[in-house]
Amino acid sequence: METLNFMTPEQAEEIRNLFGTPVYVYDERSLRAAADSLLRFPHAYGLTARYAMKACSNAAILKIFDELGLLFDASSGFECERAFRAGIEAEKISLSSQEIPPGFASLFEKGIHFNACSLWQVEQFGELFPGCEIGLRFNPGLGSGSTNRTNTGGPAASFGIWHEQLDKVRSLTEKYELTVNLIHTHIGSGSDPQVWQRAANLSLDLVRQFPKVQALNLGGGFKVGRMPDEASTDLSEVGQPVKAAFIRLFEETGRKIHLEIEPGTYLMANAGSLLTTVGDVVDTGQKGYKFLKLDSGMNDLLRPSLYGAQHPVILIPGRKRACRDNYVVVGHCCESGDLITPQPGQPELLAVREMPEAAVGDLCVIEGTGAYCSSMAASNYNSFPQSPEVLLMENGTPRLIRKRQTLEQIIQNEV
Ligand SMILES: Cc1ncc(COP(=O)(O)O)c(C=O)c1O
Repeated sequence: METLNFMTPEQAEEIRNLFGTPVYVYDERSLRAAADSLLRFPHAYGLTARYAMKACSNAAILKIFDELGLLFDASSGFECERAFRAGIEAEKISLSSQEIPPGFASLFEKGIHFNACSLWQVEQFGELFPGCEIGLRFNPGLGSGSTNRTNTGGPAASFGIWHEQLDKVRSLTEKYELTVNLIHTHIGSGSDPQVWQRAANLSLDLVRQFPKVQALNLGGGFKVGRMPDEASTDLSEVGQPVKAAFIRLFEETGRKIHLEIEPGTYLMANAGSLLTTVGDVVDTGQKGYKFLKLDSGMNDLLRPSLYGAQHPVILIPGRKRACRDNYVVVGHCCESGDLITPQPGQPELLAVREMPEAAVGDLCVIEGTGAYCSSMAASNYNSFPQSPEVLLMENGTPRLIRKRQTLEQIIQNEV
């Protein structure tokens, strides 16, 4: 039998018996190990490691990372509030958002750090808080992501202030007497390590343009292999040349710049799995396909449909089966795009996976689903409720950290 990432098949079966399927399971040991290794990221003059909480925003996860010394990156006002409710202090939160949220003034007064992500945001911030310190998120002119949809740099991305608009930024910061204390860039998720390093150098060039900047936040984006043939970024390898570049900047200018990083994927991706049950097995004849239908789908897990993302799908047959077969794995939503096994990077094309012969009722584990899965699902499509989340604690005990949503909760705001 294939091995699972962090559970035994018996533990997976126990969790299914306790909480039903579909259910997300997060592994506390993996979370702690990932945070430990992130905190060893090479740096010359100090490191702040943040967790990009959009990857998975459950309070139990935030609390673990808080206890381990990580700070937080929020991408909306709601994420800031959610972090507060998990007990995270405002000073530990940095907001980089596509919009200045309603109620921003009170968030900033509580003590969050703010990175303006457009000229309009600088203007709005200046109106509200003239004379204050501000971070600036730039688009450094190049980006890299595992797909075009996760590339957040270069001319085709709307994230950050375009790097050639320095004069416009300066005139705004002068107009409102703002002190730029941090430069921020995040060029994409699943970035090519070499492009990430080039972007780091471009970001340091931006630091040179702002003499009062004390810190550079290089975002997240470190690649994590979920499938056996996918490579993961070696943090030490990607970080050492960047550390050297910080030292060169010091030698040239006498400025010791603090480093910030804020990954989500690196911390979460392989620390989560989605447990599902096979609900049906259908086929389209000799020239067609065999489809394995799960009791979950894009309402829990959107990445395959959205990006053609690849996730290991591990079938745990209820009893021993001698044969293996090829299956297209699909979700339960009434949508042909609800495909769990698309071709890599091609969400519209089917791919088959070889696995033990499947039967209705078998347990089926989708791995590598800790980041941007529960938090980024097409929630409530077909009125399926949000699935529960379980934390597999260090001592091996599963603890419910989010209940299954009820139908009443889905419709409660209808008037
Ligand atoms: C501003 C910012 N920082 C950090 C991240 C985390 O990226 P990743 O999960 O690829 O590490 C993101 C992801 O969208 C982001 O937008």
